[in-house]
Amino acid sequence: MSSKVQAVPYLRTLYLQTTPSYKRTSGYCGIGLALCERLLSQNDQIRLCLACRNMQRAVSARSALLSSHPSADISIVQIDVGSIKSVLQGTKILKERYKQIDYLYLNAGVMPNPQISIKAFVKGLFSRKVLSMFATGEGLLTQKDSVTKDGLQKVFETNVFGHFILIKELEPLLCNLDNPSQVIWTSSSNARRSAFSLSDYQHKEGQESYSSSKYATDLLSVALNRHYNTKGLFSSVVCPGLVMTNLTYGILPSFFWTLIMPVMWLVNNLPKGSPI
Ligand SMILES: NC(=O)c1ccc[n+]([C@@H]2O[C@H](COP(=O)([O-])OP(=O)(O)OC[C@H]3O[C@@H](n4cnc5c(N)ncnc54)[C@H](OP(=O)(O)O)[C@@H]3O)[C@@H](O)[C@H]2O)c1
Repeated sequence: MSSKVQAVPYLRTLYLQTTPSYKRTSGYCGIGLALCERLLSQNDQIRLCLACRNMQRAVSARSALLSSHPSADISIVQIDVGSIKSVLQGTKILKERYKQIDYLYLNAGVMPNPQISIKAFVKGLFSRKVLSMFATGEGLLTQKDSVTKDGLQKVFETNVFGHFILIKELEPLLCNLDNPSQVIWTSSSNARRSAFSLSDYQHKEGQESYSSSKYATDLLSVALNRHYNTKGLFSSVVCPGLVMTNLTYGILPSFFWTLIMPVMWLVNNLPKGSPI
């Protein structure tokens, strides 16, 4: 390793947003923390940086990970992807700290004020779309969005735009033809073309801002590949399936999920996907 690299170390993984959501009954949950656990159990030599908006939770996440992987190298940086100022501050720190990022997981996501349409549910039960309704939440889920201090739609800024600015700012650390980087977005099978419109890409007009933002994520990933593959950056999207986290518990209470879990399991094991 050259002295230059030692001075500004390589970062094997930057994990964006991994603070553990705390569920009252069963301790920590959240896809971010589970992914960090999995990454460390595969290779605890990776250097992990948790980028979180809430430092208190970030410290708890770090402690939880260190308790099972005591020798792991885990650092923290404060980034709120719902604020451009915070993204710029956080990425400035990262550029000072690291020379290169190998993997960037973009996992932060919100679904504010989710509502289930009972009418659409009953109608869907007796229609041909019943499987797709359970598998993707099509027509079932609506949200009430708001506007951030930056003047953007909250769901769009948090789920898509903040991450995009982050990538742009970290370009020098991500683009290296000798050592290509991977950007991995947590998208969703709830991403539907019908919820997205280029003339309203922030989804100001509709009530399916989450679905729209995830579709925008998928489009953005394709565009990133077009523009950045030749520079050594590769982007991909994943859907984690249906996972019980604070996001899911915001839609329905836990007892209800327990009740419908067998149906969801069956449906999700026929066509691939999750309702959120
Ligand atoms: N659960 C599922 O079944 C499912 C299915 C498909 C896709 N997904 C996607 O998976 C990802 C993780 O969700 P989850 O299910 O693990 O839900 P979660 O437990 O609510 O985790 C979401 C995380 O995003 C963070 N976050 C929200 N807004 C942020 C911001 N402005 N800046 C930085 N971090 C922010 C939250 O941080 P705080 O701790 O500070 O609140 C939270 O830790 C999301 O992108 C979600 O859309 C989930």
